[in-house]
Amino acid sequence: MSDHGLFPFTEEHEMIRQAARDFARNEIAPIAAEFDESGEFPRKTIQKMGEMGFMGIEVPEQYGGAGMDTLAYVLALEEICKADASHGTIMSVNNSLYANGLLRFGTEEQKQKYLRPVASGKAVGAYSLTEPMSGSDAGTMRSRAIHDGDGYIINGRKSWVTSGPVADYLVLFTMTDPDKAHRGITAFMIDAGKPGYVRGKKEPKLGIRASATCEIVFEDYRADVTDRLGGEGDGFKIAMTVLDAGRIGIGAQALGIAEAAYEASLEYARTREAFGQKIGQFQGISFQLADMKTRIEASRLLVYQAAQAKERAKKTGERFTLEASIAKLFASETACFVTDAAVQIHGGMGYSKEVPVERYYRDARITRIYEGTSEIQRMVIARSELGLR
Ligand code: CAA
Repeated sequence: MSDHGLFPFTEEHEMIRQAARDFARNEIAPIAAEFDESGEFPRKTIQKMGEMGFMGIEVPEQYGGAGMDTLAYVLALEEICKADASHGTIMSVNNSLYANGLLRFGTEEQKQKYLRPVASGKAVGAYSLTEPMSGSDAGTMRSRAIHDGDGYIINGRKSWVTSGPVADYLVLFTMTDPDKAHRGITAFMIDAGKPGYVRGKKEPKLGIRASATCEIVFEDYRADVTDRLGGEGDGFKIAMTVLDAGRIGIGAQALGIAEAAYEASLEYARTREAFGQKIGQFQGISFQLADMKTRIEASRLLVYQAAQAKERAKKTGERFTLEASIAKLFASETACFVTDAAVQIHGGMGYSKEVPVERYYRDARITRIYEGTSEIQRMVIARSELGLR
């Protein structure tokens, strides 16, 4: 790994990066195509990742995690995604979207009950913000939690819940006071084993096919007051704060996919011959490789920079929204640029399921959509620069 001298890499970082790289190469890469084809959830490898501490990297050991920093998380996720973005998505939701919110806003009781099993990889966590009529405009949700005695009754339909079909617990965002718009949204910890939690149809996706996604319908689900994460009306800010962390994870995922596609292309350009020479000797191919490499290195700097900003924020409480959005925007657009070029360099072979670049191309596409589209990232960046928020 080139650390550019800009980032404080330690022996611990090197260890987790190497452990993730070995695991990804030996255990994930050999099964990635098979699970992509079947769309089955890779339970065994995810369990092993839990045992290795990858499902709660930044969670303190007292809550079942590995007690490491954001840079360690990003390095490990990048390596896992280099082998398979589906495994990376499951890891990212557990770490970024689920554990982060609980760590920052949860009570001690909630951390013991909901964080410990997920951070240690014994259970799977998910995050549920989106609804059929509320995607990018996340403040307009229709699902409702209504006071009932000492708890709440929740009804409504949530969509695009990553890990929804297999999750044991999830962080849910729902409306407690529609008159207050986004300030009427409240977060709840949900136990998928309780009555009223109904898994809907599984989405037939283009990529990250082994990461299961579905609708969740709440039918008179009862949440106790002690299951409320933060105060009433705090939900939107919790959702946004958690998404800032999530977007760094998606940046790392995009970086891993792009690196895999680039390395495959480099190897192909060195070995494939046409018109009496290796195709890498043609300027048309070599210039593409140069552009791929340049954008990957720029993405790496932005993703690691955002990880450092998040780490600093643990002490200062400052927001790292801008760094996270810039990293996600650039890395995800790079992943699509690089995987598209990789397919082109491979020619007909790049369009075949017999080589992994076809999967990288499909997997990269989601990184420009989930956890905030590229258009939303541009909106966040521009508002910040213009001083509008
Ligand atoms: N951190 C903390 N607070 C924030 C914040 C942040 N990053 N962003 C906004 N806020 C606060 C604002 O300060 C404001 O606070 P006040 O109420 O005190 O004024 C409040 O939230 C509302 O902010 P805005 O006026 O900026 O809200 P908006 O309605 O204009 O929308 C948005 C902002 C950035 C567009 C936001 O709606 C957004 O990020 N949308 C995209 C949603 C998204 O990423 N969805 C993906 C879901 S997860 C997923 O993909 C599935 C999965 O499982 C992986």
